Amino acid sequence: MKKANVLLDKGAVIAEVDERIYGSFIEHMGRAVYGGIYEPDHPEADEQGFRQDVLALIRQLHVPIIRYPGGNMVSAYNWEDGTGPKENRPRKLDPAWQVIETNQVGTNEFADFAKKAGSEVMMAVNLGTRGIDAARNLVEYCNHPGGSCWSDLRQKHGYPLPHHIKTWCLGNEMDGPWQIGQKTAGEYGRIAAETGKAMKQIDPSIELVTCGSSGAGMPTFPEWEAVTLEHTYETADYISLHQYFGNEENDSQNYLASTIELERFIRTVTSVCDYLKAKKRSRKTMMLSFDEWNVWYHSKEADEKQELWQTAPPQLEDRYNMEDALLVGGVLITFLKHADRIRMACLAQLVNVIAPIVTENGGGAWKQTIYYPYMHASVFGRGVSLQAVVSSPAFDTKEFTDVPYVDTAVVWNEEKAELTIFLLNKHLKEDVVVRYSLKDFTHYRVIEHLVLEHGNLKVKNTLGKENVKPHRNGQSEWAGTDLQVKTNKASWNVVRLQLSE
Ligand code: AHR
Repeated sequence: MKKANVLLDKGAVIAEVDERIYGSFIEHMGRAVYGGIYEPDHPEADEQGFRQDVLALIRQLHVPIIRYPGGNMVSAYNWEDGTGPKENRPRKLDPAWQVIETNQVGTNEFADFAKKAGSEVMMAVNLGTRGIDAARNLVEYCNHPGGSCWSDLRQKHGYPLPHHIKTWCLGNEMDGPWQIGQKTAGEYGRIAAETGKAMKQIDPSIELVTCGSSGAGMPTFPEWEAVTLEHTYETADYISLHQYFGNEENDSQNYLASTIELERFIRTVTSVCDYLKAKKRSRKTMMLSFDEWNVWYHSKEADEKQELWQTAPPQLEDRYNMEDALLVGGVLITFLKHADRIRMACLAQLVNVIAPIVTENGGGAWKQTIYYPYMHASVFGRGVSLQAVVSSPAFDTKEFTDVPYVDTAVVWNEEKAELTIFLLNKHLKEDVVVRYSLKDFTHYRVIEHLVLEHGNLKVKNTLGKENVKPHRNGQSEWAGTDLQVKTNKASWNVVRLQLSE
């Protein structure tokens, strides 16, 4: 059996984990909003039309923050369309996804929904077709207490109290040729800096995310980051990163190794930020907001055949399998390893659209395979992220070399006296025993070893048939000051320890 070793020291802290790294995203597209979170005729709908069965599944995930309303959609969105009496709201053509937007859900309803889900809102403003004016008015509408044009309008719309939305994105993927109102780095840098300045003048307590490249594969990456940050470094608090993964070539070993590319992406963006910090003699360290990430490839063919201008058609409805869950676990481990710089991250998205939760219109709601690693990390991964020194056998793939079979992150919650080990065995054929040297935690006992695994990496869940769900039969045992964790081939493991009385 293969063996790996991990060395931990409670003093070797990467950073306190910002819980917002377990955020998610709901865009007005496909069946994310209409038929996803909102379906007024559904038997489970509450008085506002929100599906309570979906809310219950979201609450189990403990989602701290939800990005809204887009995504590509925001770049042609007039937020005013989604406010006021519902019968007066316009039906608009959304050019980003070529669907009809009915505007039956807008800013106020979404703020209510987020509250019901136990989440904060991360609001994106339109820097595609609009600019400073619309953005500063939206901040005033959402956050100003009252006694001004836009805050009074909010009150007239039935919301006497401000929503206090703290986190704002300055547009979305503005480098992308698919984006409505795509900009060059210079154009975006200027408009983002000036818009951000005006928004902070309306509410100085807000935090801003400036758009990074829409992916590491963009031809302008990382020059885009360098040029835009020249303008936005002092105004923005975070820079965004987006990355989607796929196993188009059906090479599972290569697919699971692709977190190596993610590592590279994070390191490069961090370096560009630090270069700008030095160049500007700034005292501020730019933090990262990984506000779109997930597996996205299963649905691409179906989407190409989509008929235009429908209301809430199925779009980007990836059905995830076992190996996708492993990939998602690997991404979450990578984020924890970079907890010093990644302060927010959003699993894109939350319901129906490339999502962990799927609904049937008028029917049930269920958990995809990726729901589980996301839930485990969000629920148990709160505390400080510890530096794990790993020595593991490694493999090579078509694209990557020297990839450790074992990937791990460890979170210590001193207050709760809990230590959680997240551990991925990427070996497709062999089990691996991982020996954690835990001299500082010998008074802890294992309370649970959760495992997500399946003999068939391509197996998926469906409504009423959860083929992939965690079991509690993982094997971990103490051997002196070492904890021996047995990991089955191709498995996601969560070992939870607690200080014994
Ligand atoms: O999440 C789906 C889409 O992916 C978003 O609208 C866009 O920002 C990205 O390209």
